[in-house]
Amino acid sequence: MKKSVNEVFTPRMHEVNPSMYVARPELERELERSIRKNTHSLLFGESGNGKSWLYKTVLGKIDVPYVPINCGAVSQTNSITNQLRNVIVGSNIPTKIAYQESRTAEIGIGVAKADIEHTGEYQLSQEEPLYDVLRRYSENGKKKIIVLENLESIFACKPLLDELANILILLDDERYAVFNVNFLIVGTPTGVLEYFSKTKNLESVANRIEELPKVSSLSMGHVKKLIETGFSQLEIKITPSLAELVAFHTHDITLGVAQKVHEYLECLAYEIEDNGGRYDPPLLDRADNKWLLKGLRASYAVVQSHLNARETDVGRRNQVIYSIGKISGHSFDKAAIEDVIRREFPNTVRSSGMGIGPILSNLASAESPLLTRLAKGNEFSIADTRYLMCIRLILRKDATGKVIKRRFNNHNQD
Ligand SMILES: Nc1ncnc2c1ncn2[C@@H]1O[C@H](COP(=O)(O)OP(=O)(O)OP(=O)(O)O)[C@@H](O)[C@H]1O
Ligand SMILES: [Mg+2]
Repeated sequence: MKKSVNEVFTPRMHEVNPSMYVARPELERELERSIRKNTHSLLFGESGNGKSWLYKTVLGKIDVPYVPINCGAVSQTNSITNQLRNVIVGSNIPTKIAYQESRTAEIGIGVAKADIEHTGEYQLSQEEPLYDVLRRYSENGKKKIIVLENLESIFACKPLLDELANILILLDDERYAVFNVNFLIVGTPTGVLEYFSKTKNLESVANRIEELPKVSSLSMGHVKKLIETGFSQLEIKITPSLAELVAFHTHDITLGVAQKVHEYLECLAYEIEDNGGRYDPPLLDRADNKWLLKGLRASYAVVQSHLNARETDVGRRNQVIYSIGKISGHSFDKAAIEDVIRREFPNTVRSSGMGIGPILSNLASAESPLLTRLAKGNEFSIADTRYLMCIRLILRKDATGKVIKRRFNNHNQD
């Protein structure tokens, strides 16, 4: 049955849509193995690359129950343990009296031994809230996972990082180990690095955490699969060669970031719907426009501000920005940009130096810098990946080899 666009392309959906999920067997296998071990696991990757969909799919498949804890919310309760308690137990913690009464009512008078045991346990839990939470969460020693999502949101808070380190060390204690509860820590790469650099007892903590391969962006093949599956669910007909072109374009401007891919294809699918359900290549331009205005407006303004600066005779500054858009690695130096310029703009190459160094420095030092200068050497990286998406979206070469800016409307094109 034909589905609607919002059921197919879902850039911000928490629950996994299995019919649109593209498998990444290696990542899935590694995560599954790590979960089955008696270790905590660390899953990291840039925002929107699909970490949450990945762990939800894998844990669902191997039937390991989990509870997600959002670190963003932890900063409000000021304690990971408190947040765990809120989520797992709820805020209605019975008082000691109420607990004893309910146990007595449940098991009947005369079963004094169990009652006493539970009272004892409860007294312990009063001293150690984490023990109490884990005891309530655990289920006869069956493996269970606590997912700590968005680790990056607590790295500015040293006490929370210390608390996490303590929890991970404590969980090895045999009284806690019987619960068979492990943590899956999920975060962005910078978050993870910061985490490790700020953690006390680093060695003992690192010893207890298994780092999984990075969740990177989707490949061209993955994007193509999403287009084929999505368009078929929407009953949009497209030839394989046109689908290939759409996949190439989508992958190029979204850098393969899963969330951005969905966001872009959602825009495109609506354009197709408005075109009576027929795909036409000019619709890509309209989708570009919509996508830019929807999610990249602020980044567009920053890139624009760099392009609008005074130009040299050959428009070197815009060539440099265009060339940054062609770099696929995480960081680059002056030589890498020079290589791209020699390849893309051979007629403008000069033997006496091309002034690229000062342009890069300038792009890294302006008010809203496009680039970040890395601590070591003369390397730079893009200050925000969305700037890269914008560069790829708005800069083109014209027939004479000059860099031109595509115009984007601020309103509907109808
Ligand atoms: N394997 C996949 N196949 C198809 N679409 C995916 C896949 N993984 C993620 N997506 C899409 O990307 C969106 C973002 O994914 P997800 O929420 O898992 O990213 P994340 O890495 O957890 O991001 P954040 O760091 O911001 O929490 C999802 O809503 C979904 O639309
Ligand atoms: Mg997530």
